[in-house]
Amino acid sequence: MSEREAVGVIGAGWVGLVTTACFAELGYEVIARDILAEKVEALSRGEVAIHEPGLAEMLRRNVERITFTTSMEELLDGARLLFTCVDTPPTYSGDADLSRVRAVVADLPADSDHVLVMKSTVPAGTGESIRRDMPGLAYVSCPEFLKEGTAVADFMHPDRVVVGADAGDEEAAEAVEALYAPLGADGEILRTDVASAEMIKLASNAFLATKISFINEIANVCEEVGADVGEVARGMGLDKRIGSSFLRAGIGYGGSCFPKDVSALKMLAGNTGYHFQLLTSVIEVNELQKRRVVGKLEKHLGSLIGKRIALLGLAFKPDTDDMREASSLVLAARLQGEGAEVVAYDPVASGRAGEMLTSVEMADSAMAALEGADAAVLVTEWAEFRDLDWSVVAATMANPLVVDGRNFLDPAVLATAGFEYEGIGRQPRPAPTQVY
Ligand code: UGA
Repeated sequence: MSEREAVGVIGAGWVGLVTTACFAELGYEVIARDILAEKVEALSRGEVAIHEPGLAEMLRRNVERITFTTSMEELLDGARLLFTCVDTPPTYSGDADLSRVRAVVADLPADSDHVLVMKSTVPAGTGESIRRDMPGLAYVSCPEFLKEGTAVADFMHPDRVVVGADAGDEEAAEAVEALYAPLGADGEILRTDVASAEMIKLASNAFLATKISFINEIANVCEEVGADVGEVARGMGLDKRIGSSFLRAGIGYGGSCFPKDVSALKMLAGNTGYHFQLLTSVIEVNELQKRRVVGKLEKHLGSLIGKRIALLGLAFKPDTDDMREASSLVLAARLQGEGAEVVAYDPVASGRAGEMLTSVEMADSAMAALEGADAAVLVTEWAEFRDLDWSVVAATMANPLVVDGRNFLDPAVLATAGFEYEGIGRQPRPAPTQVY
């Protein structure tokens, strides 16, 4: 009975662990294989090193149905459907590095009834090339659309599940589809071919990144014409064709996915001879957006040489400790380049960030970072920053100035506390839009 079929997972990283936990929660036996012995041992002891809300609890709750192993043999013996969840980081040129995917494929038997189910984000054409190399192996593309911080909920209540298979692999695709059946109406399935499934993933991330760069440019124009980008985004979002999500202006997108996937799609197009003009601009706008923070600080402080700037938040977004391609990395370097002294605090990412930002002083709390600072820059919208007593903060800073890189704080609260406040495309007190 396919609903009882065991699930194999290759790569116990963030995607692999969420996939493991959620399939186990749906009642399947799951065998997850990783090459790192220490990681497998820690996971077998119930230790989860990744900060993802609900994940550790879900793994614990389903411990009886989950096996962690380093053995490929054990995986192949125990499961037919092998969800490949290894990472595909960017290379220097911006292409996706497929070496880990290739290493997995090299470990699989050329002829068996196993199915390689690709969850990792790969350039369109990867499936075709693997099928060419391994004609005896069934191949299904099933890209992941999980967001860090809400990955467990995203898996259990997806907007869609994409299952891509080519001629000859129909049975394999049906078996993958059947795994998602317990999600019921929550798991609308789109069945398509492999290349289209691969493109759906890349195009979705590139489109969302485009929305962000678009609203960031609108924010920059709003500053010039006296409009408020929050009001503009709200008014735009009411048009169902546009939608309200991913229209939050700020200092730009980061993370392990958008920067990598946008540049991988641009490179993929370039490799075919097509210049993807729009994505070139999306990337450029994202880079320029961080410079605006420096400009805003200079507007109030003049030269930044010797000025103490406190960064509130370092992770690429809240509810994660992920520092990959975080805006804070670029910003800290830029501020230091201008001669500023940078101090930073993040509720969970400080440790990880400390290894990357060795010349940045890491504070133990937001208050400690803000003490004596000439300005604060809100980089990541952690809830605890909104809950600070901003009157007390004003008294502890050398100069009460906040540049809110996420338009997250309430300008009225800050004004009452005696702050000068700069958002991104935000007016200090816009007349609130009313929707009747
Ligand atoms: C993103 C996609 O949203 C997922 O669907 C996809 O599965 C994932 O990449 C992936 O490819 O694995 P994630 O990177 O976790 O998920 O983060 P998002 O919540 O999408 O945010 C990405 C960045 O955009 C963050 O830096 C965030 O601060 C920024 N952002 C987001 C904005 O600046 N404005 C917005 O309106 C929304």
